[in-house]
Amino acid sequence: QKKHKVAIVGSGNWGSAIARIAGQNTQRHSDIFEHEVQMYVFEEDYKGKPLSQVINETHENPKYLPGCQLPDNVVANPSPVDAVKDATMLVFVLPHQFIRSVCKQLKGKVDPNAHAISMIKGVEVKDGKISIFADVIQEALGISCSALSGANIANEVAQDKFSETTIGHRADAKGRENAELFFKLFDTPTFKVGIIEDVAGVSLCGALKNVVAIAAGFTDGLGWGDNAKAAVMRIGLMEMKRFSEEFFDGVKPETFTETSAGVADLITTCLGGRNRKCAEAFVKTGKPFDQLEKELLNGQKLQGTETAREVHELLAARGKVDDYPLFKAVYSIAYEGIDAHDLTSRL
Ligand code: NAD
Ligand code: 13P
Repeated sequence: QKKHKVAIVGSGNWGSAIARIAGQNTQRHSDIFEHEVQMYVFEEDYKGKPLSQVINETHENPKYLPGCQLPDNVVANPSPVDAVKDATMLVFVLPHQFIRSVCKQLKGKVDPNAHAISMIKGVEVKDGKISIFADVIQEALGISCSALSGANIANEVAQDKFSETTIGHRADAKGRENAELFFKLFDTPTFKVGIIEDVAGVSLCGALKNVVAIAAGFTDGLGWGDNAKAAVMRIGLMEMKRFSEEFFDGVKPETFTETSAGVADLITTCLGGRNRKCAEAFVKTGKPFDQLEKELLNGQKLQGTETAREVHELLAARGKVDDYPLFKAVYSIAYEGIDAHDLTSRL
């Protein structure tokens, strides 16, 4: 049987961490996977050299995952089309705002039998409709796409500190085959992959917990303590679940309460994520989020503020803003100049 060829579409903080695992596991399972793993790098200058060249020379991504050695079989490629050439397994791991433009470049250029997985934590809202990125990719490229999400702060995963993650797959036979292949590509003794038949639930958990993490960061900025943060997490989890059940058919309640993609990712992001960090700084400094993203994240991208805006746009279009008081408060504080002290006033 022909071996699978893997391409990682993305090379940021999480993209690089996951490329490292994929590179190790293609070597471990050399009966299933081809040796080389291509990794698409959005080209930029790094200290006078193209970043893709620096990665290939040093086997490290010094901009987005400094101090972490990538296996030699991970090959950086500045062309997305060239990176996915002949690939039968595609891993999408870009900040959500760049997916549409990359898919446009890839349309008609991928193997029609390829399997894809989305590791993107975000949603797309357009014309009063909401989509998960596994669906955006599946429709744009005509290939089966599942989702992977979990309590996975990239820097910890890159150091082989123990964590779990969740693959959410589609109900058909191709969906199950897809999940089993990606399980083989990612599961390690310190990165344990669980599988659930719920591509929407897994995707929505990953997107919506970022909005809750902004609220958790606000509580830190206000100095409100651990009880307040726990309350925000609890209320946030309820809103995440209710929102997902309201706008998507077939999401499973246990995805929210029992998987790494659900409650575990919510907790880790509210404790140690970038969204939390920037939201704390927002309260403490009064600077706008786009400025804090630039100052604090060195090119990495915040996903939660944009998701808060998109969720608000959808809820406003459906007349349901008041049904989700935590999501509403995050939007009002981030975008409408409402004082952060009002975070809990309508909960
Ligand atoms: P990141 O936040 O490090 O973002 C930077 C990446 O975006 C870089 O690779 C940069 O080259 C790229 N980029 C910038 N402009 C671009 C453009 N115009 N077109 C294409 N690419 C461009 O990225 P990340 O941490 O790898 O996040 C990717 C996704 O994974 C996000 O949805 C994120 O929520 C999710 N995620 C992140 C983590 C984490 O801990 N970092 C963990 C799990 C999931
Ligand atoms: P942040 O984007 O807030 O860092 O969250 C990372 C994450 O998704 C951890 O699972």
